[in-house]
Amino acid sequence: MKILHLISSPRGAESISLKLGNAIVEKLQVANPGSTLVTKDLALNPFPHLEEVHVTSFFTPAEQHSPELAEAIKHSDEAIAELMDAEAIVIDAPVYNFQIPSTLKAWIDHICRANKTFSYSANGPEGLVKGKKVYVSISSGGIYSHGPMKPYDFIEPYLRGVLGFLGMTDITVYRAEGLKVPGVGEHALENAIDGIVV
Ligand SMILES: Cc1cc2nc3c(=O)[nH]c(=O)nc-3n(C[C@H](O)[C@H](O)[C@H](O)COP(=O)(O)O)c2cc1C
Repeated sequence: MKILHLISSPRGAESISLKLGNAIVEKLQVANPGSTLVTKDLALNPFPHLEEVHVTSFFTPAEQHSPELAEAIKHSDEAIAELMDAEAIVIDAPVYNFQIPSTLKAWIDHICRANKTFSYSANGPEGLVKGKKVYVSISSGGIYSHGPMKPYDFIEPYLRGVLGFLGMTDITVYRAEGLKVPGVGEHALENAIDGIVV
């Protein structure tokens, strides 16, 4: 199995979403001997925020690209090639101010490309990234999967929405949550790892 692991926490080895993401990767590797792994640390090597040059490059035919546009589109082309090549994608998604880190959002901005990863037809939008298994590793200080903070769970609906739009509908979410809640946080990572089924 070809696995792509996206890291987005800036906290390095201390990161809980990374520890949970690593546990998902390890279980995938055990279940699929001979798997290959591509790891992208989006915090250490961030994709650029979309600027005019990137957007222009997306909407200009490749044969009309100036050297500047050809350079600008490289990030997106590389990210899409890695995504298309992967069979399983593990996405670390820590909660920072109620959302994914902007580094993960920047990666998403570079993989959403008309006629590459989605298209519009008479029947509406169609995702072109098909046949992938996606695993999301969410870490949070609070609890969002249930209880009074559930209305503030923007990450899971957002990721299911945008990845589903691109054709990735086989999505499993694991959460190490309540990390800052006394009596919950102490066991949150361990419980999340125990619950992984691949
Ligand atoms: C800048 C910052 C913002 C945070 N925002 C939230 C938040 O909105 N909701 C929440 O439940 N936890 C929040 N936390 C706690 C993190 O989600 C928690 O520490 C988690 O472990 C971060 O994931 P990581 O360990 O992979 O970096 C925040 C932490 C930091 C440092």
